[in-house]
Amino acid sequence: SVLFSRCRGCLFLLLQARLRQSLNLRLFSHLVRQDLDFFQGTPAAELLAQFSMEVPRVCAAAPTGANHLFRSLVMALVVGAFMVGLAPGLALLALLELPLGITIHRIQSARKRALQRSMLEASAQTASGVQESVGAIETIRIFSAEEEEEERHSLNLAKELKLKERMELELALFTLVQRMLQLAIRVLVLFQSHQQLRDGTTTPGTLVTFLLYQDTVGKHVQVLLYGFNEFLNNAGAGQKIWEYLDRKPTGNVGGMREPPELQGHIAFQNVFFTYPGNPEHPVLKDVSFKVHPGEVTALAGPNGSGKSTAVALLERLRDPGSGKVLLDGIPLPEYEHQYLHRKVVLVEQDPVLFSGTIRENVVLGLEHCEESELREAATAAGAMDFIQGLEQGWNTGESWGGPKGILGLHLGVGVGLGHWILRPQAQRWVRTGLARTVLVVSHRPRVLDAADRLVVLEHGAVVETGTPAELQKRCGAYSHLLLR
Ligand SMILES: Nc1ncnc2c1ncn2[C@@H]1O[C@H](COP(=O)(O)OP(=O)(O)OP(=O)(O)O)[C@@H](O)[C@H]1O
Ligand SMILES: [Mg+2]
Repeated sequence: SVLFSRCRGCLFLLLQARLRQSLNLRLFSHLVRQDLDFFQGTPAAELLAQFSMEVPRVCAAAPTGANHLFRSLVMALVVGAFMVGLAPGLALLALLELPLGITIHRIQSARKRALQRSMLEASAQTASGVQESVGAIETIRIFSAEEEEEERHSLNLAKELKLKERMELELALFTLVQRMLQLAIRVLVLFQSHQQLRDGTTTPGTLVTFLLYQDTVGKHVQVLLYGFNEFLNNAGAGQKIWEYLDRKPTGNVGGMREPPELQGHIAFQNVFFTYPGNPEHPVLKDVSFKVHPGEVTALAGPNGSGKSTAVALLERLRDPGSGKVLLDGIPLPEYEHQYLHRKVVLVEQDPVLFSGTIRENVVLGLEHCEESELREAATAAGAMDFIQGLEQGWNTGESWGGPKGILGLHLGVGVGLGHWILRPQAQRWVRTGLARTVLVVSHRPRVLDAADRLVVLEHGAVVETGTPAELQKRCGAYSHLLLR
């Protein structure tokens, strides 16, 4: 035992580190492939808690638990065998502790697991409350809702504290019952050995050895019971992790099509869409329109008319409930996932920046990107001077603080076709590269009027299509929109 203890410990620690890394990575790669609805229904704080608390806990518990359990099992079996050899009757009596102890532990572990789950939910609720308050600090200030927020946080903390107290109280109670049981068995064994001494069936030497062995076995049995219990508890705490790992994304990930050439014809065909979170409210109702290559088509409409939803369908962030979105006459799900997202690129007005260099942000998700393509896109987007002016150029890290619109480069690089820029002086969209089809979403009259074609949405339905001049003449929905 002395010889092997350190080596075994070291081996298990190494195993623990590897296990942690691989479980963390598996969970992460599984989560990033889930549907958007999953993220809508799961608070970010709960997912964070899995990475920061549960994965390390499960990984620390599994190898350490296995290490201790293995050692105690061997010791208990070997020393137990000696005890049976020395005094079989007394050994049987001493072993009585085992089934009783296991029963008590099973009850305790079931209780503890249930409480731990509630505790995890309560902590996630507290964390998500803090996140929400910090995120909405301006709103809180405007409505002077600091006290309400404080009260909400204090209620969440009180809930956690109550659960913690309950856990500790139950632990104390179960420990008391366990100790009483141990004491009772010891008294029985002592009583029986006293009888055997009196009858002369055993010697004082054998008895002392037996009692010493009983002590050793007792300690290891405790480790087995508590360790196993702890092991199960930690596995129970990791239940959410296994649930997430078992969860399959419902959406169709993508097909196999990767045509070498794309014309860029986009068509929405009788598209209906409802968000799963709000099934009563259809967001797109029988939407049909076409976006032609070589043109800039603008999607216009009042707030909540469904513009962003239509774009989300085009980006395949979501799939239509019925109807089709076609690219060159082929439904989007038939295209290979990475191929489609290289060809159909969304450039937001206020894009999300990931930590990393400008280069890493621009080539995000693109496997092969030549230096020349980067330069070409940067020049087309008018960002080359800005980047070259930075001390570390393309390799400038998080602190560059430049215009976020620079990420629009992603479009140019991703499509490999160049970029479209709205030239204010020209009052029209100018193609600076070979970009084919552009669908713009905007409320700004300047942007809309500069488009070649307009599609006007209202309450999730297409109400007008045509050129800006045609629609202005018609004095319909588009004209009303411009007057707002
Ligand atoms: N994730 C969601 N879950 C449920 N309903 C949603 C979700 N996102 C948007 N909606 C609803 O769908 C409707 C259309 O929203 P959408 O964001 O597509 O409109 P929009 O035309 O882009 O509006 P805006 O001009 O304000 O950007 C709105 O009624 C909105 O409340
Ligand atoms: Mg929108």
